[in-house]
Amino acid sequence: MSRKKLLMGNWKMNNTVEETLQFASKVNESSLVKDAESKGVILAIAPTYLSLQALKQNIKGVYVSAQDCHYAKSGAYTSSVSVDMLKEIGVNWSIIGHSEKRQYEAESDFSCNRKIRALLKASCKAVYCVGESLKEYEEGITKDIILSQVTVGLQNISCEDAKNIIIAYEPVWSIGTGKNASSEIAQDICCYIRSIVEKIFNKEVASEMLILYGGSVKPENIHNYLTCPDVDGALVGGASLKVESFKALVENI
Ligand code: 13P
Repeated sequence: MSRKKLLMGNWKMNNTVEETLQFASKVNESSLVKDAESKGVILAIAPTYLSLQALKQNIKGVYVSAQDCHYAKSGAYTSSVSVDMLKEIGVNWSIIGHSEKRQYEAESDFSCNRKIRALLKASCKAVYCVGESLKEYEEGITKDIILSQVTVGLQNISCEDAKNIIIAYEPVWSIGTGKNASSEIAQDICCYIRSIVEKIFNKEVASEMLILYGGSVKPENIHNYLTCPDVDGALVGGASLKVESFKALVENI
């Protein structure tokens, strides 16, 4: 079965509301969305919480995603945002389990699972990030780490709900370092993730699920990943911040 390609920008803690509005108007004035459509590429951007509404209301042809959400509907969870609050402003996607949340804020596979289930219950999309640290990579235990992140993160989810899950393989050692993983590594791990998904759910879910690579993806290297049979797109940080390089990513797919 042929899967669509997804190019998703994760802006992390970058771009103010003003900068977001400028980005949106430049995108709308350009042929970026049309170019992506003609290549069968879906576009998505995850700005900060503060810029979500501005982006959602002003950009055309691009999915808008949060970078995180809380699993509870509401309550005493200072600084958090619920799925219902995202939906209220028309945002139906969220990244979950980014390595920066895991590293700096002790996000666990278990808390990721709660958040993913909250998103799926509300018919939203979850972009679940997994990936090994440099130490784990050097110890040769990448697949063990991936297995437990995927298995725990995706537990207690039905095959029907699983259709709203996207997985992003982002080796921690490749994020923001310029040391992008080779396309062989990306293909090997994305293929491995698909095999785990098949075991947890079934063949149909596994063959339909979008699995992305992320980590120092640039216009110069995106093509190498997108030609791998099990890599369905890219989750891009730095190179997604400016319209010019976002456009160049689309052009080079
Ligand atoms: P960079 O593309 O800046 O390496 O970031 C990758 C990433 O973490 C996307 O979520």
